[in-house]
Amino acid sequence: MCGIVGYIGNKQAQPVLVSGLKRLEYRGYDSAGIATLNQKGTATLLREKGKVAELEKKVATHKTADQVGIGHTRWATHGAPSKRNAHPHTVGDIYLVHNGIIENYQDLKAELIKHDYDFKSDTDTEVLTALIDYLYKDAASLLDAVSGALKMVVGAYGIAVLSVKNPEEIVVARKGSPLIVGVGDDEVFVASDGSALVGYTDQVVYLHDGEIGLCTREGVQLYDIDANTVDAKVEKLEMDLQSIQKKGFDHFLLKEIYEQPESLRSTLSGRVNTDTMTAKLGGLNMSDEELRAIENVMVIGCGTAYYAGLQAGYLVEQFVGDVTFNSYIASELRYRSFAVPKNTVALIVSQSGETADTLACLMELKRRGVRTLGVVNAVGSTIAREVDGGVYVHVGAEISVASTKAFTSQVAAIMIFGLMVAQAKGVGVKEISDYIRELELLPSEIEKCIVAHDKEMERLAKKYAQYEHALYIGRDTLYPVALEGALKMKEVGYVHAEGYAAGELKHGPIALIDDTFFEVFYLQDNWLYEKAQSNLIEMNARGAHAIVITDTDKRIAAEHVIRVNTKLHLLTPLVFNVLSQLFAYYVAVMRGNDVDQPRNLAKSVTVE
Ligand code: M6R
Repeated sequence: MCGIVGYIGNKQAQPVLVSGLKRLEYRGYDSAGIATLNQKGTATLLREKGKVAELEKKVATHKTADQVGIGHTRWATHGAPSKRNAHPHTVGDIYLVHNGIIENYQDLKAELIKHDYDFKSDTDTEVLTALIDYLYKDAASLLDAVSGALKMVVGAYGIAVLSVKNPEEIVVARKGSPLIVGVGDDEVFVASDGSALVGYTDQVVYLHDGEIGLCTREGVQLYDIDANTVDAKVEKLEMDLQSIQKKGFDHFLLKEIYEQPESLRSTLSGRVNTDTMTAKLGGLNMSDEELRAIENVMVIGCGTAYYAGLQAGYLVEQFVGDVTFNSYIASELRYRSFAVPKNTVALIVSQSGETADTLACLMELKRRGVRTLGVVNAVGSTIAREVDGGVYVHVGAEISVASTKAFTSQVAAIMIFGLMVAQAKGVGVKEISDYIRELELLPSEIEKCIVAHDKEMERLAKKYAQYEHALYIGRDTLYPVALEGALKMKEVGYVHAEGYAAGELKHGPIALIDDTFFEVFYLQDNWLYEKAQSNLIEMNARGAHAIVITDTDKRIAAEHVIRVNTKLHLLTPLVFNVLSQLFAYYVAVMRGNDVDQPRNLAKSVTVE
């Protein structure tokens, strides 16, 4: 949520900052700004409301040769999206960019007002900027002033700070909001996300919570909050330019939908074996005995990650035997008075590995001594580092705000974990072999489905794009598909879409059906076919505009029927889900929406 960049070196800073911000724009895009310093300490501050492209236009007419600077692309929390609230903020000698939230900013502001500070924006960030400026008047260095200020703030932050008093340094710090320093030859880069560094350097230092970094052209020195030095571990950034480019697709969303066969292969690689009919994840840090002892699995996430947990739970409980597998919305769970049964393992599911609510649940479970395992995509992210063990889904960079390939791989990874638990508990090969076989088939089945139905989904979108309401309906393993399908349609199509369990229709939502709605109905030819079909008939009787996505060739009454030809049976829901993704994508395109950066959203939600 929000993106931070910084640069100090021998290059002109402005282009480096703007290119970094463009790469980070998916994290927030309602305003953007950069501040650069020349060697005499004169600052140039440029800020604009709207996307980075607006800022770029401004930079083109205000070029500087400055070699030091910081930048930010914002997703508004405190204060509306506006130029006034855009970062960097400046007070006195200080320029600052910030991700996160300073919770006690009102109290700090009241104190600073007593010292004659006045404030031009509605943000918590300006208060932190003023606090650093105030402390720097008596502090020996910017580092000391930042460290003093951070001891006084309550909340989460990733920050980069400049002072006109010393144009040869950038001070950075993190607590609960990611920050990475890239080290090059006589130059140092700062970013809240590795994608901004790709192509500049692959040598990076991930700051840990509570660390402060002093960046100069020569490198970075880390300190703890009391300004004691800390060793910086330089790691290799595992990201390449290819993965953050559109590769000929019109949008990242379409590219990422199309990437699913490949990204799923990466998730499955070396983890499922159809010769031995076994599944294995390295990195769990659990013995067979510990896996055998599991009686309860809590799967925790937000948004699509939560639905992935729900989807996987429906599947895993079919074969795992006597283990409860429940999914939880992190933002709810964190404030519930929940009990944790004995022998519980918590799976923490997150693409970004930075989602604040999910992280809060993880910390609470750790506090209670529960074993936590991550199902994470972003390598080196906070959740990945905090869990006791876990699995990377390895889908590569997911740039579009709407999560697609991460969902499919999260489900697969959790299923592999479920299969490992089943194996450890002595569940027979007969019970699990079909799941293993279907996991292996899944990438090619998804590929086949995309190729067969892409054009059909586009045509369908043309027909339904003008509707403002939709119901997405499924039963059993298709219920999570309905929820996830509706979420995709909401967030990129801006269509009011609700996901419902088919059996729940007659308990309320069926009253909604009229000509302003269309209904996406997932129907699988399995043991619940007749039951689900009755629900469809009930809907049709009320004049539904039903689009049925099905794997059967039986006769179906509906406005439109999409027939999926697949060798799968158990994992068919994951193939249907890809069609929901395509449908939402084409509806968004036809409605002229900003497909990759839908309004009001951001990719990584690091605030509550
Ligand atoms: O990075 P995470 O997986 O933790 O993100 C969780 C949700 O914010 C995310 O899935 C969100 O719902 C997406 N925009 C859905 O497409």
